Formats: sequence, C-alpha cells, structure tokens
Amino acid sequence: NTEISALFTIFGATGDLAHRKLYPSLFRLFKKGYIQKNFAVIGTARREWTDTYFREVVADSVKDIVENEEELTEFTSHFYYISHNVNDAAHYVELKKLSETLDEKYTINGNRIFYLAMAPQFFGVIGDMLKSNHLITDNGFNRLIIEKPFGHDLQSATELNEQLARSFSEDQIYRIDHYLGKEMIQNISAVRFSNMIFEALWNNKYIDNVQITLSETVGVEDRGDYYDHTGALRDMVQNHVLQIVALLVMEPPLSLDGNDVRNEKIKALRSLRLYENKQDVLDNFVRGQYVAGNEQVGYTDEPNVNPESNTETFVAGKIMVDNFRWAGVPFYIRTGKRMSQKDTYIHIQFKHVSMNLFPTEGVEEVAQPNILTIHISPLEGFSLRLNTKRVGQGTEMKNIRMHQILDEQTSANSPEAYERLLLDSLNGDPTNFTHWKEVEQSWRFIDQIRNAWDDEENYIFDYESGSMGPKESYDLLARDNFDWIEFN
Ligand code: BG6
Repeated sequence: NTEISALFTIFGATGDLAHRKLYPSLFRLFKKGYIQKNFAVIGTARREWTDTYFREVVADSVKDIVENEEELTEFTSHFYYISHNVNDAAHYVELKKLSETLDEKYTINGNRIFYLAMAPQFFGVIGDMLKSNHLITDNGFNRLIIEKPFGHDLQSATELNEQLARSFSEDQIYRIDHYLGKEMIQNISAVRFSNMIFEALWNNKYIDNVQITLSETVGVEDRGDYYDHTGALRDMVQNHVLQIVALLVMEPPLSLDGNDVRNEKIKALRSLRLYENKQDVLDNFVRGQYVAGNEQVGYTDEPNVNPESNTETFVAGKIMVDNFRWAGVPFYIRTGKRMSQKDTYIHIQFKHVSMNLFPTEGVEEVAQPNILTIHISPLEGFSLRLNTKRVGQGTEMKNIRMHQILDEQTSANSPEAYERLLLDSLNGDPTNFTHWKEVEQSWRFIDQIRNAWDDEENYIFDYESGSMGPKESYDLLARDNFDWIEFN
C-alpha cells in the first residue's frame, strides 16, 4: 500500500473516542503501510500529559492487536502530546512550532489532518484559531474531521457550519457518520446498482414497504448527561437512520465520485415528506422510553438522567418519500436502547405477485412476498426470501431464504468503520462523509418532529427493557396492514 504523508492533530486526545477508535485505527493503517514513516500525531487536550505518558496510553489502546513490540515502539514514537487550552491563542503558537518541527522531522510536506474529537461548542474557536495562527498550510492538504453531534437542530447546525466555514471550505470538512464506514452500509449501493434484478424493481411498482431497525441492548451507560439532552431522534435518526434511508432511496449517481454520490443523497433527503402539522407527526412518529424490566433499571433511574425526564430512548416512524420513484412506499424505521437484541438490518419487502396460482388453504405454507434483507450488524450479508414448491406431489409452497452472510473471520478481518474513514480522509475521498447539505436537510426533517414532540410532552410511551419497543410502534404499521418483520 502506498504511504500517504500526514500530520494528524487530534483535539480531545485524552478522550474515550480517541482511545477506543482513533489510535487502534491509526495502528491498523500503520500495519498496512498507509502511514509508515512520514507521519506524526499530535495529541492535545487540557490534561497535562507528557509524550511518554501519551505513548503509553496509545500503546494500551492497541494492546489487543499488537503482534510485536518493535512495531509498537516504532508506531508510538510518532506520537507527541501538547497540553492545550482551545481558547488561548498562545497555545496555537506552540502547536504551530511543534507541527513545523514534526513536519520537517518526518518529511510530511504540509499535509494536515485536524481531528476534532471533542464537544462541538469548541469547533468554531478551534477553526478560527487554526486559521488566525497560520496552522493551515499552503503547501499540502488541510482537512478537518469532525464528530457528531453536528448541531442540535437546524439553527445550531447552521451556526456551527458558518463558524467552520470561516476557516475551512466545504471540501476540506469531513463530517463523520460512522455508519457510513460500515462494510454493509457501503454494500447497499453495490448491491443496488450492480444487479439488474434489484435495480429494475427498486421502485414503488414493486416494493411494498421498507423496514429499518437499529436496536441496541445497552442503556445510556455513562452518557446520561449527553443522552438526556439528546434523545434517540437526534442521537440515531438524524444521522445514521436518515443516511441509510438516503442510500436506499437515491437515484443512481453519475459515478462513484464522492460529489456525485452525495448530490444524489442530498436530492433523496430533500424528497422526504416533512410532516408539517403536529397531528401528522404524532400519527407517524412514536417515541418511547424504557422502564424497568428483565433485571434492568428504567431510564429515569439511570445515572445523570433527570428522574422526571421525558427524553425518548426509542423512536419508530413512517417516512414517506415524495418523488416519482417512491411515492406511496412507506419506509418504517425504529431504533432504541434496551431492546431485546443488538441488531441492525433492513428489510425490503416486495409486492405480492398480481395473482397467486398456488394453494392458500389447507396447506402449511403459502406464497409470501419476497424480502431482501440487508444485515448490517452483527451479521453482515444479504438474505432473500423466495417461494418454491415443496418437494413431492402437489403444488404446495415452500418459503426459502437464500443467505450470503460473511463468516466470522471475514467479518473480523474487515476494516473497522473508523479505519476506513480515516483512510478515506487521507485519500481525500469525501464519499462516506456527510455533506453540509445532507446535514441541513436532515435537521429540517427532524426539527418538525422534535417541535411537535416538545409541544406534546406527554406523548411518549413506555416499553419494558429488553423488549422491541412500545405497542404503539406495532400499531403504526398495523394501521397500514403491515407488521414489523421480526425475523432476521
Ligand atoms: C452512536 C450513538 O452514534 O451510535 C450511540 O451516539 C449508539 O448512542 C451508537 O450506541 C451505535 O453504533 P453501533 O455502531 O454500535 O451500531
């Protein structure tokens, strides 16, 4: 693999994300040769750490994937730490000095990746300071990677974007949605656009409904404070769920070029129906909160959660796509904490054949609509439900499912989302990062729902921990004569 030179400056280097995801991903890229000699990492945060201590922390974060000590020592020797107050200009002077020294030492040629793994209220000031203190180089690339949440609603997201735009242009900003780094999310376009049997049927003539489930078994863990101010709608739907919808809905892009793909996703997001009045929202979006059950405490008893909270830990909704291809096809989505299983999958349910020739009475199985299942995680792969004839005499049906599920080893060896995304950012490939216009359009959609819910504080339903959500989520589909497809 060809090496790409870069200086990474990680703001929030002492944090959990850096430890769990960034250092191991950088290590994997190092082992694969994408970064080798011409790279350095400056970790920065408020805490007073030394380079030595920082290197120990980095070494600890990769201990499960280290094969030999030499490789580890070589890798961590590229890491430097500088304690930093993001509001203090003097610190950026120091940061610049260190950047230049490392650039020379490792022959980096001006390439910079600034990674903001910290709270978004600091994004603006960091951007401004990087610019005013001339940390942005003119002899290499300069890329800014930022983590969610990108705003709290459309207004705050717009403000944030305007702040960043003072120092970085849209094509230098890489907004992470880690779902876009997942193998099977990237596979959606592959299977859609390279198979005639799907592409030809991928529309409202042949597809009856689509169901997207992102269920988690964990509760809010130690993130009560963040989560209680956020809720499942902002935490999961605004980003991951709507990104999945966009990939399913978009028109074929002109090419796989990042801007071609993202232009189609922007159009897709623009075609989502905005629920304009409160009743439409309440009819089409259900929110829930887990209560005690299956030996788990209820949400309001979790640490750092307001005991009176009516923040939702579950959302189910019906999304309509008002364009030529999709008019009339409901996209049902659901996501929540403390559900019965950790599972992410998409079911695409096709329409029934227009006339069933096969027996429907006095038989065990009847013809069923075809379903294409995209297993995102933990299973990764595809399944397709088909009808066949039961072996023997007669015309009785047998439903079968054809599976192509990655084996454990292939799954385990496939690059982790952050590894892929870091490599994409090194390569300057924005395809799997969200464009500002996608973020903008997603918030526009989410704000409608949020506003109606904020107005109707008590419109929230309990569900037992360890279940698949409140009864109202089932009612949502039952009204349209559908049911959540529970098999996976
Ligand atoms: C994050 C959310 O974006 O995604 C978390 O903030 C959630 O609340 C996580 O647990 C789920 O990601 P994954 O990859 O485990 O499905």
